[in-house]
Amino acid sequence: MSGVTTIAIASWQPQVSESATQSHARAIEDGGVLALPHLGFALLDGERRFLDPSWSDGRAKNISLDRGEVRGTRAQGADRDALRDMVARFAQHASGLVAALFPRYAPHVKTARTSFRPQPASGRPVSWRKDDTRLHVDAFVSRPNHGERILRVFCNVNPDGVDRIWRVGEPFDAMAAHFLPSIRRMRAGESALLAALFITKGRRSEYDHLMLGLHDAAKADIDYQRSSAQQEVRFAPGTTWICFSDQVMHAAMGGQYMFEQTIHLPLAALYDPARAPLAILE
Ligand code: SIN
Ligand code: FE
Repeated sequence: MSGVTTIAIASWQPQVSESATQSHARAIEDGGVLALPHLGFALLDGERRFLDPSWSDGRAKNISLDRGEVRGTRAQGADRDALRDMVARFAQHASGLVAALFPRYAPHVKTARTSFRPQPASGRPVSWRKDDTRLHVDAFVSRPNHGERILRVFCNVNPDGVDRIWRVGEPFDAMAAHFLPSIRRMRAGESALLAALFITKGRRSEYDHLMLGLHDAAKADIDYQRSSAQQEVRFAPGTTWICFSDQVMHAAMGGQYMFEQTIHLPLAALYDPARAPLAILE
């Protein structure tokens, strides 16, 4: 099973020795989760009011910040600015942390989308494909990434002592061996057609096709969801955790109020590209 490695760091700008970097990099690039139970994200007094699902716009799953724009919220005016500042501060902390922990990644840390998730992790009616309470690896339908990695930093900011509860599943290679034989090959012309219809932004590669296939095959397989190797992992409030979510089989079973930062990394930035999903699939 993929493991959870706990580290005692309590600063968003930690001093990290070369040997600690090596061991953290090995853990995370091997498909593990790094948990930092002493690293919380402090809200300012005026921000605690945002711990309320009613700030959502009722349509989007999360409140997000993308290139300076907040989306998914009904907040306007000064509220909207304060909400944006809060999410932007998390984005800065999270990217600073990744750059400090993993100096090789630092030049590539241009933050992609940041999200604030005020809704409960489970209980919303969604289709099986969007149901993140089912074990899956992350793969994007509309944004092909051609093997680029998806690194995510999460932080539980629940004010009432409620844990974020995940299930973490079997290692990527075991999961891929289980599902790959059932995934159809990409059809000739399929990638050009998807791009022409604007279903994808740019061409979907064979890698993107397989990753989406694995995402869907795992979520659709109720028996696999129940009986594959897995463990429950609880992230208490005040805990930050980091993983390659395109590699770790994960499912969000409970909890409320979390931040998440996505960072895209080219394969060449990894300490050991041979452990990446692309290399495993090849
Ligand atoms: C996910 O990335 O699948 C959900 C993570 C979470 O909401 O805890
Ligand atoms: Fe996910």
